[in-house]
This record gives sequence, C-alpha cells and structure tokens, in this order.
Amino acid sequence: MKIAILNGSPRKENTAAMVDAFAEGAKEAGHEVEILHVGRMNIAGCKGCEYCHTKGEGKCIQKDDMEKVIPAYLDSDMIVYASPVYYFGATAQLQAAIQRVYCIGKPAKAKKAALLLSSGSPATGSGAVEMYKNMIKYMGIEDAGVCALAGEENKSEEKLAEIRNFAKSL
Ligand SMILES: Cc1cc2nc3c(=O)[nH]c(=O)nc-3n(C[C@H](O)[C@H](O)[C@H](O)COP(=O)(O)O)c2cc1C
Repeated sequence: MKIAILNGSPRKENTAAMVDAFAEGAKEAGHEVEILHVGRMNIAGCKGCEYCHTKGEGKCIQKDDMEKVIPAYLDSDMIVYASPVYYFGATAQLQAAIQRVYCIGKPAKAKKAALLLSSGSPATGSGAVEMYKNMIKYMGIEDAGVCALAGEENKSEEKLAEIRNFAKSL
C-alpha cells in the first residue's frame, strides 16, 4: 500500500516519535510511506468560496503548501492522521489540511485510515477521535485503529514498539 502520514505537530517531539515508529513498521511490512509535516507547512483554512466546485474544476483558489498534500490525497491507499491534542482536539494545522480536501471531495483511493494522538494528560483527545471517526465514516474509509499516548507514555519504547507492530500488521 501507499501510505501518507499527515503529521499535524509543529514540533519534532512526541507526535513525531509516533509517526516515525509507525513509518518504520509500515516500511518493514513492505508498504511505501510518505510523511507530510503539515504542522510545519503553510496551509490556510478553507475559505468556503466554492471556487473549486465551480470555475476551479477541483482546484483550490489558494496557492500554498496544500499543493504538496493534494497529490497524497489523490494517490494513497491509506491516510494516517497524527496530531498532538491541543485544547481537546487536533491541531489547527492538521484540521486545515483535513478540511482543504474539500476541493477534491475526499481522499480518492484511500480504503484505510488511522489516527495517532499525543497528549499531556490521558483521555483528553476524545474530540479529535470523534471528528476522525465521523469523517472517515462519511468518506467511506475503514478505521484501522487509533493509538493515543499521554504523559509519560510519550516516547516510551514499549508504546512505540506497539505502534511499530500495529503498522507492521497492516
Ligand atoms: C496549545 C496547546 C494545547 C494543548 N492542549 C492539551 C489538551 O487539551 N490536553 C492535553 O492533554 N494536552 C494538551 N497539550 C499538551 C500536548 O498535547 C502534549 O504536550 C503533546 O505530547 C505534544 O506533542 P508534540 O511533542 O508532538 O508537540 C497542549 C499543548 C499545547 C502547546
């Protein structure tokens, strides 16, 4: 499978460790993995102008780093959404990259998705999980799994090994 991982963290710390572990496991299982660091890209929110659905014929009027993400949305068999929990949800950066899929409707080929979440405290990511589950259901994409690490679990070798094994099992 071609797997695109959208990392919504602006830092190279806890979420990045989960993303790297997932990528390692997936590559070991023979999958092709692309990591898109959307948390450090310049991606504005959707303007809701409908240019894409009228004159733009599927192209967004905004010219920014979303042009690097759209090819992954068109080509990938699996999308992995990764984010730190910011105020009980995913980061604004990840949400912008998620919502800008609007111009093409949904990831064109993706049959599977997963969610990787890192937080300071346990059980604070339910808003992000609910958004993810509702979104992939709407898009007709199967949930392969949700991995959430909190507090001291972040960067724990045991937890990262679980993520590596999860990715290997896909
Ligand atoms: C703006 C902001 C909001 C946060 N909100 C939450 C929160 O609602 N719940 C929580 O448990 N942790 C929260 N945190 C902590 C981060 O989720 C946590 O430190 C996470 O591991 C950071 O991941 P990263 O290293 O990839 O940036 C917040 C951190 C920031 C900077």
